[in-house]
Amino acid sequence: MSIVPHYDFEKRKVTTLRLKEMKKLGIKIACLTAYDATIAKIFDEAGIDLMLVGDSLGNIVQGHETTLSVTLQDTIYHTKAVVNGTERALIVADMPFMSYQVSANEAFTNAGKIMKETGCNAVKLEGCRNVTEAISRMTEAGIPVMGHLGLTPQSINQYGSYRARGTNSEEANQIYNDALSLQEAGAFAIVLEKIPAELGKRITDSLSVPTIGIGAGPHCDGQILVYTDMLGITIDFNPRFVRRYSNLNEIMKKAVGHYSDDIRNSKFPNEKESY
Ligand code: KIV
Repeated sequence: MSIVPHYDFEKRKVTTLRLKEMKKLGIKIACLTAYDATIAKIFDEAGIDLMLVGDSLGNIVQGHETTLSVTLQDTIYHTKAVVNGTERALIVADMPFMSYQVSANEAFTNAGKIMKETGCNAVKLEGCRNVTEAISRMTEAGIPVMGHLGLTPQSINQYGSYRARGTNSEEANQIYNDALSLQEAGAFAIVLEKIPAELGKRITDSLSVPTIGIGAGPHCDGQILVYTDMLGITIDFNPRFVRRYSNLNEIMKKAVGHYSDDIRNSKFPNEKESY
């Protein structure tokens, strides 16, 4: 019997084609980040459709302020681990800062390296104007690409803040046009981060490829959160778009405190736990 309530998800491997089909059928796409095999296995068994090995690993796993220092090797290492823990979900590897901006050629080579060395199903990259050529080349070569518009954390030093994007009509129209261009270039899906719900709806209604929102309102075809935020492991980051489904920070601290006490009081291990 499934331990996942009210959800009878398809057991077959999720593909980029299936995601498009889900959009057509109005079936919402459930996505989360993942960075290792153990967590990936739990999310996969719980029915998550798409796992993103986000460059948020720079914040979550490595403890950096921004995502900028993540390397191609870091991405490959963590993506391999997630692939090892996953049977059903589609796995997308986030291309790190400066692994795709220098030239379409370099982007193409790096995307190929990620695909070949990890066994993931797709790559993701941020922005539009300087990446459409790279997206076209990757798509033609059989590398599915996910776009990412709105708040693009790799550009933090250019914008200077993590404020919502597309809140004035000029910026909103730019994001809208960029979404059309990414679809035209061959992107199979687009992440929309921290934009008004109305803009999320306008883009979602205009595209044939699915939109995956994070702070982009309820009309997107799917939703994604950083899993440590969703499970309440990281509790210092509190944007409006994060909903906490658990409080693992407190639960884990209690369990670890209990364990430490038992060791200090010589209660662990007991006779049954010894050889
Ligand atoms: O790096 C990441 O985790 C992401 C998601 C927040 C979409 O890009």
